[in-house]
Amino acid sequence: MEKEAAFFTLHEVRKSFGTRVVLDGVSCEIERGKTTVVLGGSGAGKSVLLKHLNGLLQPDSGSVKMEETEISDLPESRLLELRKRIGILFQDGALFDSMSVEENVSFPLLESGIRDRKRIADQVERALEMVGLSGERAKMPGDLSGGMRKRVSLARAMITKPDCLLCDEPTAGLDPVLSDSIAHQIRDLTQESDMTAVVVTHDLGALKIVADRALFLQDGELVFDGDLKDLFSSSEPAVVEFLSAGGGRG
Ligand SMILES: Nc1ncnc2c1ncn2[C@@H]1O[C@H](COP(=O)(O)OP(=O)(O)OP(=O)(O)O)[C@@H](O)[C@H]1O
Ligand SMILES: [Mg+2]
Repeated sequence: MEKEAAFFTLHEVRKSFGTRVVLDGVSCEIERGKTTVVLGGSGAGKSVLLKHLNGLLQPDSGSVKMEETEISDLPESRLLELRKRIGILFQDGALFDSMSVEENVSFPLLESGIRDRKRIADQVERALEMVGLSGERAKMPGDLSGGMRKRVSLARAMITKPDCLLCDEPTAGLDPVLSDSIAHQIRDLTQESDMTAVVVTHDLGALKIVADRALFLQDGELVFDGDLKDLFSSSEPAVVEFLSAGGGRG
């Protein structure tokens, strides 16, 4: 079978903040229709890498392509178009504090031009049910626990059924049962609609549930890029250490 074109292609991506080199020549392909997990220690540059995929950060040098489009130097107006195809769950949730849960979750639908109130209400209901929060629609983010905010963010990232889902630590701060349940929901949703997903996580349980492929970042470079089964048989010291430590914090 012919290999499908990658959804994202990174070539020699370099990014520094001041004198701190965070990405030091990262090249990889993110396969279409698969879930790629990004691993690495705290401060390794995982969130920075993820933000390059929807153009929130631009590389100092190198190339980031989404399908055939070079996105590292696109004007904001074109980026906004591309971002309609990408759902993102930020590490800190990034909910709008002045909007209710319902308003937060419906935001991407309104942004993409949908005005049909019934349709919006139905989709919000389904998205909140998915994360077990139907009863919390009227609450404000400030009145929710950290784990609940994370689940609202996931509902918001998924509501448009995007072509691509970017998730930064979707299960951090959740208890193990909820964490597995969220990981299964990500798995089911991405498989159902052939979504391409990139998930940053420290959570070994979630990794095993969602991942088809994995990348491991260390000192600004990828020290592993391969299938999940190869990850578990890798002799790369950073990978071995991560796996034997049980993945680190949830
Ligand atoms: N906007 C920014 N300005 C300056 N430095 C930044 C910025 N964003 C990230 N950094 C730095 O880049 C490095 C990598 O940060 P990043 O958030 O990608 O780490 P991470 O791998 O996601 O870590 P964690 O697992 O703790 O979330 C850190 O040293 C961080 O301080
Ligand atoms: Mg991070």
